[in-house]
Amino acid sequence: MIRREFLARTLSAAVASMFTRDVLAQHTGHDMSGMGDMDMKDMKGMAGMTHPSGASPMHPAAALADADALPSGAPLADLRKLANESREPGVFRATLVAQPVTRQMLPGYPTTFWSYAGNGTADGPVVGPMIEVREGDTVEIRFVNRLPQPSTIHWHGLPVPPDQDGNPSAPVAPGASHVYRFTLPKGSAGTYWYHPHPHMLSAEQVFRGLAGPIVVRAADDPLAAWPERHLFLSDLKLSADGTIAPNTMMDWMNGREGQFVLVNGARRPRITVTSDERWRVWNACSARYLRLSLGGDTRFTLIGTDGGLIETPREGLTELLLAPGERAELLVRAGSQTSQTALIAQVYDRRKMAMSHDAGSLPPEPARVLADVAFAASSVDARILPDTLRPVPPPGAPVARKNVVLSEKMDMAAMHKPGATAGHGMPAGMTFLINGATFDPKRVTLTSRRGDVELWSIENRSDMDHPFHLHGTQFQVIEREYGGVTTAEPFRAWRDTVNLRPDEIVRIATVQNMAGSRMFHCHILEHEDLGMMGTLKVI
Ligand code: C2O
Ligand code: CU
Ligand code: CU
Repeated sequence: MIRREFLARTLSAAVASMFTRDVLAQHTGHDMSGMGDMDMKDMKGMAGMTHPSGASPMHPAAALADADALPSGAPLADLRKLANESREPGVFRATLVAQPVTRQMLPGYPTTFWSYAGNGTADGPVVGPMIEVREGDTVEIRFVNRLPQPSTIHWHGLPVPPDQDGNPSAPVAPGASHVYRFTLPKGSAGTYWYHPHPHMLSAEQVFRGLAGPIVVRAADDPLAAWPERHLFLSDLKLSADGTIAPNTMMDWMNGREGQFVLVNGARRPRITVTSDERWRVWNACSARYLRLSLGGDTRFTLIGTDGGLIETPREGLTELLLAPGERAELLVRAGSQTSQTALIAQVYDRRKMAMSHDAGSLPPEPARVLADVAFAASSVDARILPDTLRPVPPPGAPVARKNVVLSEKMDMAAMHKPGATAGHGMPAGMTFLINGATFDPKRVTLTSRRGDVELWSIENRSDMDHPFHLHGTQFQVIEREYGGVTTAEPFRAWRDTVNLRPDEIVRIATVQNMAGSRMFHCHILEHEDLGMMGTLKVI
């Protein structure tokens, strides 16, 4: 804990003085000697700016929209679906265009997002159209980049060939297009998503609106008859004038969290549950952790994780933590009585770094309602849930071991320099590392052999939570070591993203089946862009 306090203290001292010197100078247009002239209104504005969610020295203050400025309470919108242009059985063919679109979110102040449009249509919520495919399908998606930046499409969680996975090394230039092609193997049914992955630009492209859901269905899905609901959760940070606010230094350090959390593109929608339902939930936020509950003691059942159904339903849950990038499948029962509750993101302390002199970390965000939920008394008989959903076989004995260490380094001198940036609008002096190094496209961090079962020991030696994500495969968490106690994972599940608390070690069993380069990284996208990413070479 000595390290933690040392870091927090040196950081807060340096940053606090940087804020007072640089931000105030920019705000007032002259140096600190002008302080005496300011009236109370100015002082209030400044207090807002020195607040962690306020402006950074590189992005002088633009006031943020109020937290209740976005209309709420509309019925939950369905996600739009990407139409299949192919008539051949077993082939899904479509076009996704990434482009600026304008939407009226704040009354009177239109917002220009970047969004994926399917097959020429650009209507509906900003969330990219849902790609719904089946195991065995060959998927062929033409990506057209109408953004002012290079981009890629990454198929988060899907076992696609490495050269089709939208790696940062394969950018699609502005104005160019590219066809991604892959075939989905048996056993890949699950809940996935797609988003850009260009070098150092992923965070910005996602926070401007580029991300969409994928559902892969199995022919033998035991729950195929259950009505399904999709909840795609994303984060939005808007200035009062309707523009998407740029990242502040705090956003880069802790990962960006906006004042709004959207469900299928809208703030706090209304959900009416009239029969037992299967929910698929995506955490597509850049950095926000979602400790989900249905209010007080409303229970739900976990039936699936990132890579699809788990073996045995886990009934009676009252909460579930979804780290950025993670997905889950839940069963929500209508019950026999009418009742009102809410889908809530409960308080979760991910140890965000502070910029004040005394606190070691920022206090966590208060709980917030994501959606209002009404249960109508169900006339339909409760559906029967099978005891076994599908087999999730234990991994074979590992033939190789790997260590991954996540850490951070804050260079006070570099951060202290007025206007210092590391390019791409990123602050200088803030370093996030994997195995002691920041991402270098030319460097191979680890090498694995195709088909080998490996035991990866992932260790968080930093002061805040990081969600670890590995491309190209689904892994199984074996055990977690925290506070000197090792806990075997209580159930087998397929995942591609797993959270690590500070000083936690998570051990996973993983296999890569295709030769080529795979990325692994923190899924707080600012940390990924700042270099908390490595390359796994599969031979
Ligand atoms: Cu969803 Cu490499 O990420
Ligand atoms: Cu991914
Ligand atoms: Cu991180």
